Amino acid sequence: MVIASKPKASIKAKPAALDQGQGGDGALPPLLLAWYDRHRRVLPWRFLAGEVADPYRVWLSEIMLQQTTVATVGPYFQDFLTRWPRVTDLAAADLDDVLRAWAGLGYYARARNLHKCAQVVATEHGGHFPMEEEALLALPGIGAYTAAAIRAIAFDQPATAMDGNVERVMARLFAVTDPLPGSKPILKAHAASLVPARRPGDYTQALFDLGATICTPRKPRCILCPWAEPCQARALGIADELPAKQAKTAKPVRRAVAFVLSDAQGHIALRRREERGLLGGMMEVPSTPWEAAPMPGNAQALPHAPLAGVAWQPLPGLVRHTFTHFEFEIAVMAGRIKTSPPATDLRWVAPDALGEEALPTVMRKILRHALAKGGA
Ligand code: ADE
Repeated sequence: MVIASKPKASIKAKPAALDQGQGGDGALPPLLLAWYDRHRRVLPWRFLAGEVADPYRVWLSEIMLQQTTVATVGPYFQDFLTRWPRVTDLAAADLDDVLRAWAGLGYYARARNLHKCAQVVATEHGGHFPMEEEALLALPGIGAYTAAAIRAIAFDQPATAMDGNVERVMARLFAVTDPLPGSKPILKAHAASLVPARRPGDYTQALFDLGATICTPRKPRCILCPWAEPCQARALGIADELPAKQAKTAKPVRRAVAFVLSDAQGHIALRRREERGLLGGMMEVPSTPWEAAPMPGNAQALPHAPLAGVAWQPLPGLVRHTFTHFEFEIAVMAGRIKTSPPATDLRWVAPDALGEEALPTVMRKILRHALAKGGA
């Protein structure tokens, strides 16, 4: 439900089950843990009962899972572990290799921080992740959520890891009708009140599973939920309306013209982006600057072409890509030359070698578009 107007107050009445101060040692966590023991998902980074959790795997999976789905992360996680089985291996890796292996997961600053974090753990912590919140928060790329997830899952400490799943479950369980993001503190307080002293790591993962498989954003499967009885939103018939969200303002749009240039052998011209900023250090299809202005016409675009004297052909259609803070629209021009000139900042890549390049998803979309329209 999208709420644009003033936030409503939370509903104060509580069903009996929640009135009795369930706390971390109340009846709710055991219900969820019993459900988890029967229905837990089998995931590549998950440890079986009795196995000792490896903080490196927990950390790696949590960084990969930020803003990315479980299904997408699986093969990347396996690939990283094959290439770099221990945090010290990852620390010793070439950043370029890490970025290349990360390509497709998006948010490339995460990959840079991942590499930096591995180096700090290797050099300052003897290759072992710390378990204290403060020490974890001091590591590159580790914020409150990841620190709590690592403490809970890897070290079985009663930490409260708040992600979108947990927020949704708490909003429903306690019928918090205040919209997100303003309701975050109250949702966190509810979540913290439930974390049990026994099996907090399993409990944390059980909450993730409950949110992903039962207490889903749309059409929650309340009939199968281990918390159906104490759930206040279900009792009120409003489970599928929660969590309420503040109406979003539309994202700004940036636009650019990309130049897909190929030579007679079909090699494609790529270039490396600046180290700093969005997609820093990744490879790109050369383009005009990405600007919040109307799409540049030929006269504005051509001075930014990677090579002069090419007969650029505009391709029909636009490529669209959503970044966290803006929508991106790209028009594509294609050009062909006979032989690639040696002395430029361009790297000429054979089509069958594109897979090994550190090419972000938006760049792959541009290349696919050019291919589909006959321009590459
Ligand atoms: N989402 C975030 N962390 C997760 C985990 N460890 N397992 C499943 N889903 C998750």
